[in-house]
Amino acid sequence: MNSYENYEGVEQVAKWLFFCALMIAIMVVIGGITRLTESGVSITEWNLMTGIIPPLNPQDWQELYSKYQNTPQFKEINSHMTVDEFQTIFWWEWIHRLWGRLIGVVFVVPLLWFAWKNRLPSTLFLSLAVLLILGSMQGYLGWWMVQSGIKDQPWVSPVRLTVHLGFAILLFGLVMWIGLSLIRGVSPTKFYSKSRSALVSKILLLMIFGTILLGGMTAGSRAGLVYNQFPLMGDGFIPSDYWLATLSFWDNGLINPVAIQFHHRIAAEITGLLIIGLAVTVYYKRHHQKIIRRAALVFLLAALLQIGLGIATLVMAVPIVLAALHQFGAVFLFGSGVVLTHLLSTGEPREDKRFISEKNKQPARHGATRQIDQ
Ligand code: HEM
Repeated sequence: MNSYENYEGVEQVAKWLFFCALMIAIMVVIGGITRLTESGVSITEWNLMTGIIPPLNPQDWQELYSKYQNTPQFKEINSHMTVDEFQTIFWWEWIHRLWGRLIGVVFVVPLLWFAWKNRLPSTLFLSLAVLLILGSMQGYLGWWMVQSGIKDQPWVSPVRLTVHLGFAILLFGLVMWIGLSLIRGVSPTKFYSKSRSALVSKILLLMIFGTILLGGMTAGSRAGLVYNQFPLMGDGFIPSDYWLATLSFWDNGLINPVAIQFHHRIAAEITGLLIIGLAVTVYYKRHHQKIIRRAALVFLLAALLQIGLGIATLVMAVPIVLAALHQFGAVFLFGSGVVLTHLLSTGEPREDKRFISEKNKQPARHGATRQIDQ
């Protein structure tokens, strides 16, 4: 099978991919909670299979706890921690890793099944195989991140945390994009469109991605614990200690928490304003399909919510629930941006007519009718 035209069973394949995307979104939130509860380095080793089994008796717990006692985090910050307290941080990290393994199973088993049933066009199978490789890399990146927190310093490297977060968002976006392409009957590589709104939307996706990376740096460096005020930082828009002469250019951006927070805020504000501009423009263009205008509205609301959550997280000095919601908001905003970008790139009314079977002027099979006018 070589075509992306709607074929029998395409909806099932798309639903499976959306389910995987949902699992990745949940994974990002679990990852956020793991970090916020300072649980990330509680398990100091990585075993793909045996790691699934949690400690089953007091001896097992003691053994794991002893390993944690050797970490800089225990020695420098948590030396008062008891085995019972250790269990809480263990479970968050264990759930995080278990969810990662589950995503692997939920991706690989149906992939093989659909391939066996000849439900995947060959290029789609290849794209999904590449996703599988990227997903495995993400597992490795997670371990690479944890390693940075069990040897030299009491927490994981903010840069590694950001790479791990960014990779998760990238995977989420790719899975969503391929799923959307399937239900709309276009090739996932159809990215180019003449529409100016589609171009702006793509630029905005990149800007949201950049803001998310800067958010990862903010979270990883605990930069949400300085200047807990909005809209100013101290007495001004740009705080006086934004630039520390004692640090090099790069270190200012990578380790000065004030600069890190400032970069995240300013990126979020500019991105937020541009999202409002695009969403309002698309919404009020009557020639756009209803589904595109609705997607623009969701995109707008997601941005407003995310900015509101960001401000609340900041001024309340990073309470766990708000910070976790802010993390979820980032995935939701990115996801709604992917949907709008996809619709704008592939779903302009004139282009949609291509999905009507030319032979009999009947809508092509499975779901294609939905593309015509919603
Ligand atoms: C486009 C809008 C925004 C996006 C996409 C975004 C995204 C993110 C992401 C992905 C994180 C990392 C969360 C984590 O790893 O736990 C983060 C952290 C953070 N963001 Fe935002 N953010 C946005 C707007 C804002 C705004 C407007 C503010 C405040 C002025 C803000 C304040 C913070 C703070 C304080 C943290 C650190 C929270 C923590 O330590 O867990 N964000 N942001």
